[in-house]
Amino acid sequence: MHTLGNHLNFEQTTLIKTQYDLKHAINDGSLFLMGNGYLGMRGTFMEAKKADYAGIIVTDTWDNADGKWEELSTVMNGLFADLKIDGRSIFERPWTDFKRTLDLTTGITTRDVTIQLDDVNVNIKEEKFASMDDHHVIGMRVSITADGPVDLALIQGIDADVWSLNGTHLKEVSFDSNDLGLYSQARLSSAQDIIAVATQCNVHEIGKQPLSITSKTHISLHPDTPYAWEQIMVVTSSHETKDPTLWVQKKLEDLAPYDSLKTASIKAWKEKWVPFDVRIKGDDTDDFALKFNTYHALIATPTHKPLPIGARGLSAQSYQGAAFWDQEIYNMPMYLYAQPDVAKNLLLYRYHTLDGAREKAKKHGYEGAFYAWISGKTGKELCPDFFFKDVLSGRPIRNHFNLWQIHISFDVGFAVLRYVKQHQDEAFMRDYGLEMLIEISRFLASRVAFIPHRDRYEIIRVQGPDEYHENVDNNAFTNYQAHYVLKETLQALDEYTPKNPAILPRDDELELWQSIDAKLYLPKVNEAGLLEQFDGYFDLESIVPAHKVTERLIDPEEYYGYPNGITVFTQCLKQADTVQLFSVHPELFDEEVQRTNYHYYEPRTLHFSSLSPTTHALVAARLGLVDEAYKHMKKALFIDLLNTNEAVSGGTFIGGMHTANNGASWAVVAEGFAGVAYDDGLVMNPHLPNAWESITLPLYINGALRTFEITHKTIERTDESSGPIAIRIQGTPHTLNSGEKITYTHSS
Ligand code: BGC
Repeated sequence: MHTLGNHLNFEQTTLIKTQYDLKHAINDGSLFLMGNGYLGMRGTFMEAKKADYAGIIVTDTWDNADGKWEELSTVMNGLFADLKIDGRSIFERPWTDFKRTLDLTTGITTRDVTIQLDDVNVNIKEEKFASMDDHHVIGMRVSITADGPVDLALIQGIDADVWSLNGTHLKEVSFDSNDLGLYSQARLSSAQDIIAVATQCNVHEIGKQPLSITSKTHISLHPDTPYAWEQIMVVTSSHETKDPTLWVQKKLEDLAPYDSLKTASIKAWKEKWVPFDVRIKGDDTDDFALKFNTYHALIATPTHKPLPIGARGLSAQSYQGAAFWDQEIYNMPMYLYAQPDVAKNLLLYRYHTLDGAREKAKKHGYEGAFYAWISGKTGKELCPDFFFKDVLSGRPIRNHFNLWQIHISFDVGFAVLRYVKQHQDEAFMRDYGLEMLIEISRFLASRVAFIPHRDRYEIIRVQGPDEYHENVDNNAFTNYQAHYVLKETLQALDEYTPKNPAILPRDDELELWQSIDAKLYLPKVNEAGLLEQFDGYFDLESIVPAHKVTERLIDPEEYYGYPNGITVFTQCLKQADTVQLFSVHPELFDEEVQRTNYHYYEPRTLHFSSLSPTTHALVAARLGLVDEAYKHMKKALFIDLLNTNEAVSGGTFIGGMHTANNGASWAVVAEGFAGVAYDDGLVMNPHLPNAWESITLPLYINGALRTFEITHKTIERTDESSGPIAIRIQGTPHTLNSGEKITYTHSS
């Protein structure tokens, strides 16, 4: 067994924890999350209730219960079960020999615990999985044994008193039962959608309370008469079927036995892993941590429908189960290289939310598509105007993330272009992509300002990725990203005809776009080789290293940013910004410039966003700054495992899995250390950390999955499929057939 820290260990592909402490319940519930992109069941135990942060979060259940936060709902928990001994829950008894596990390859979690009673010990073995085969199903099997005689009452059923972050979503909760199991239906408080849950379990003495329906079974346990049961929950909503209650009833009638469901899920997981199964040889901990992050990225991603990846996935309701730019910039690369269908599905989600983006643009006096900073099902802006508070005065802070972080639209456009170029999906471009690009360009054209005395267009009053500096002009990341999308859109207009010609730009629009393309201000590198993050950034107070600024805090919970936080009038950054630009556009600046800027900005960065470490790791690895890259990669790999990031900021709960970081960890290995890129063909410029011997990397190229084994000196093709792959290694073109190996010279 290998130790990770925080009482976590691992053995091969299994995460293990041998200490139970209620204090860690929020984090453990996320670490041991089960899921399948449709739902996430927090890693809590069968007897867990609201106070233990028990929650099953289902995608496509957005609801606004408190008048402020529209978030995904937690649904009724059909896997509730408790063993009562003299009327007291097992939670209230001493536990020994505790062990819980999560097998990342099968998604199965277990708990093994012994409950100490006065003169007898009861051992409980619990196993759970969210089916990767049938997304509506979660199964649980429990077996209990005792070393002496004991009478127990098994209380099992559906508990609707579940953890919910912002208000009670489940209204009009009703319950029912028949020979097969127990049923519950609820209406979402503002959205009015119906959620239905059914659970297959023993149906004995039924007890109904306002927020639960349970069945009671009396068990006489002896050393030679162990007891076991299975409980299977199914869930759906009115987004999927007209009559959810009828649907779950039918589902119970046709349900396969537990073992068959489990076998089917294991098989589906096995297939799921094939394209994502990157292996790191030389450091078992890194190898495991990468797998852990990939597991969480996978279970956070809806694949059944075009729906967004939430910034905390389906691990908690924080960040509203909604997409940020994280989706296109951090989660997308893994899918672009391993399973392009999923990348396409995510882009289709952005296509289906175009109307929301159009509405937002209109509302603020612009044209085209201004994508929501926080985007749920319809693409309307979910980001409230006020969400942090000034903890010193207690007054709310107006953040302008929704209004000024306009780079979101260009990031969506950038992802469309990346996908189409890499997978030559011309049909996607004609049917969907071009329309998005045109609408994004329209937005840009209505958003730029022409400054006559400078004879150029500028993008003023924005917020770049570094959220601690709001209301800035000409953010380098934003301007370059916008320019790239506009330039490529103009080119795409020459190459493709959209399915719907009505959306094509008018002649006068086209003329304006060409003028913006020619005259959009793109900040240049100064004599010191530095690219200014935004106008006037270099005039701000420089504090190095950045964390020294925290000495100025009056209250540890203070918000650091706009309008008056401790970083606002300094060069201290929340997260990568100029370095962020290099991460998406390495082609724009030569390596020397990127290195100079990396060394300038990194010490000024607080890395208070979980997005920051992977960006630095990626850019540093590409630049051959291997130790630096590895240092950031280590941070990224352990953000969730070691719970390093704050769960509350400016009074708002932001805990849960850091889904963007989970997906981007994969991308750092592929695009950073293995140096993979797509530039009219596959490129590889590896820079492996010293601690690693090799990376085994599956990549989806030219319509099929190929695998490469990359060491410090060689790149070998290890898949068995036929046909050569063209690949540029350190600038030299090669073709690699299955089994062939190329020796390269390390450039760092
Ligand atoms: C980061 C944003 C990010 C959001 C969701 C914020 O803390 O600054 O860049 O999109 O979290 O992950």
